[in-house]
Amino acid sequence: MDKLVIEGGTRLEGEIRISGSKNASLPILIASLMSEGNVILENVPRLRDIKTTIELLTLLGCESGFSGEEVLVSKGSLLPEAPYELVRTMRASVLCLGPLLAKIGKAKVALPGGCAIGSRPVDLHLRALEQMGAVFKLESGYILGSCNGLKGAHIIFDFPTVGGTENLLMAASLANGESMLENAAREPEIVDLAEFLNSCGARISGHGTSVIRISGVSSLEGCRYRVMSDRIEAGTYMAAGAITRGDLVLTNCPFHELEAVISKFREMGVKISSDAGGVRVKADQDLSCVDVVTLPYPGFPTDMQAQIMAVMCVARGSGIIRETIFENRFMHAQELIRMGARIKLSGQNAVVRGGVLLTGAPVMASDLRASASLVLAGLAARGKTEVQRIYHLDRGYENMEKKLSAAGARITRISE
Ligand code: UD1
Repeated sequence: MDKLVIEGGTRLEGEIRISGSKNASLPILIASLMSEGNVILENVPRLRDIKTTIELLTLLGCESGFSGEEVLVSKGSLLPEAPYELVRTMRASVLCLGPLLAKIGKAKVALPGGCAIGSRPVDLHLRALEQMGAVFKLESGYILGSCNGLKGAHIIFDFPTVGGTENLLMAASLANGESMLENAAREPEIVDLAEFLNSCGARISGHGTSVIRISGVSSLEGCRYRVMSDRIEAGTYMAAGAITRGDLVLTNCPFHELEAVISKFREMGVKISSDAGGVRVKADQDLSCVDVVTLPYPGFPTDMQAQIMAVMCVARGSGIIRETIFENRFMHAQELIRMGARIKLSGQNAVVRGGVLLTGAPVMASDLRASASLVLAGLAARGKTEVQRIYHLDRGYENMEKKLSAAGARITRISE
């Protein structure tokens, strides 16, 4: 298992290129299953989750893979089964439910680990697909879905679920009649998926707002599409600039999609500006802690919560972080505390008392964004930090150690 060894205390300076978005690429790759022609995707990052999705598409009957810098998904005849071995490593595999039901009227998708049908995390997906005429049962750890053609429906989500909105956007694109999704998620990745589907001939409007309208079409064509850049990766490098008092220019970087994050970093004292050359992140003064509440887009993203917590550990004053999207998403806090951070957890809230000089330590990554926060803490800490279990990091960050080293960080990957 690989680990990252970081000698902290270096100020980051230079240019970092932001990769294509993981969370936009995953649903777009899966939506390609529905097309009658070949799909070519640009700006897809080379990540473990992407490799898993490509394997999934191939298993489902659509040969796919990288060809140079692009991903090619070939039209194929679909098989209904997404096996447990793949789904357990990547929850987003449940996104193939909608496309399979829409295309072949049946789907057999392993239930993601640790949850029961009818409860989180896919109950909203299933309930909405049922409204379109699908029937589900649970058998031997698999969700078995079937339908005799999907029909348009008026769906009101209890919560603006990102994956649920994506599943329904795909299903409704090939359904018979009109659909309306209310309280839909508004994340930029939803907009990217809808734009991709429209490039294939779908008729979707209202994406980016909480009411999305879809007129079902009888088939989708192939297309060439450029996936958006990764706003969470960009936010993470903003945090790296901030925590090291650095001066970074992020290229290929989304800007408007990061408004809530940029506004918090500015409130902390980080200077962020954008021009044709990229987004400049400069932290040349003492930073202050802020209060943060994670919310569905356009609120502050839960996927940036762990990273801003790391920055707050070294900023002046104190702040409260409230996590409202996921339960139990403070696992990084215990590890940050081992590096000297002063954090108190109470339910949904984490109180961070800043102003500490973090010290390097061996730490264990527990999930993707938690791993990123430990790398950030390691960059600012005195001495050596070893971040173990970085396979989590490899799911979502392309060449992280290379990008950071190029900006001056002393960080090495060690394969064990
Ligand atoms: C997506 C992102 C993830 C991000 C999250 C929230 C991808 C691949 N992943 O995850 O990085 O952190 O959005 O921005 O794009 N829920 C239910 N029932 C459901 C569906 C969700 O209760 O049927 C709950 C979840 O348990 C969670 C909350 O709703 O507490 C948010 O989930 P959702 O918006 O669906 O996130 P994902 O699509 O899983």
